[in-house]
Amino acid sequence: MTDPLRTMIEFRKVQYRLADSRVLLEKLDLEVRQGETMALLGRSGSGKTTTLKLINRLLEPTGGDVVVEDRSTRDWDPVRLRRRIGYVIQDIGLFPHFTVARNVGLVPHLEGWSEARVRDRVDELLELAGLDPAEFRGRFPRELSGGQRQRVGVARALAADPPILLMDEPFGALDPLTRAEIQQEFVRLENRLKKTVVFVTHDIREALTVGTRITLLEAGRLAGVYSPQEFLSASDPLAAQYVGTLRVGKVARDS
Ligand SMILES: Nc1ncnc2c1ncn2[C@@H]1O[C@H](COP(=O)(O)OP(=O)(O)O)[C@@H](O)[C@H]1O
Ligand SMILES: [Mg+2]
Repeated sequence: MTDPLRTMIEFRKVQYRLADSRVLLEKLDLEVRQGETMALLGRSGSGKTTTLKLINRLLEPTGGDVVVEDRSTRDWDPVRLRRRIGYVIQDIGLFPHFTVARNVGLVPHLEGWSEARVRDRVDELLELAGLDPAEFRGRFPRELSGGQRQRVGVARALAADPPILLMDEPFGALDPLTRAEIQQEFVRLENRLKKTVVFVTHDIREALTVGTRITLLEAGRLAGVYSPQEFLSASDPLAAQYVGTLRVGKVARDS
């Protein structure tokens, strides 16, 4: 059951500092509630990917605490933690010599599910991700378009039914029409599945489309947390700058 009031992920004064003492994240406080899609918006280099990797413990904070399902990531066994968390990245790293079915069924297979159960689950997931199982199950990654590959990536991340999904610019490399379609499909899927999602993007349009809330990051610091509606009318200059990019047109030239 999803309980929308439950905090699934919490950053408590999180700092992430490199060995050369450069600070990538400073005093980050953030709560992600069950079933929401938190869009993490910021320019390139603002610390979005770092933030995401602190959640599945690919990185550990140098200060403060990242808490997942009421337990500090330091106290989670990393393997168990990552079983609770699906991860989708831009270049999703499908195994090229495995079929789509084998790629999607990898984690359930590793978890010891029976072959029949894995096969059913794979078909169910391909269906969910908008791919006809009969057509796509036996294909290899090189036989897919970019959009189809990302759909397989989403299916694979959902394979073992994790409650949390981390997505790092998953649709960033797609053409605008395919991208818009897959965003809408993702929203429909998420409305059904109600996973807790952290969705990294530098694209304001995407943040407004997929996010139930938007966290704005700037140079490793939290610049604000908004509902999409609030974001559009926010007085914060950075938020306003993003909203300004939604207007189309050339700057007037001096004549
Ligand atoms: N391991 C690392 N060593 C050195 N610099 C890093 C490392 N990881 C990230 N950075 C730098 O930290 C900043 C934030 O990185 P990142 O979280 O990847 O940003 P984003 O995902 O928002 O583009 C960037 O300037 C990046 O170059
Ligand atoms: Mg990044």
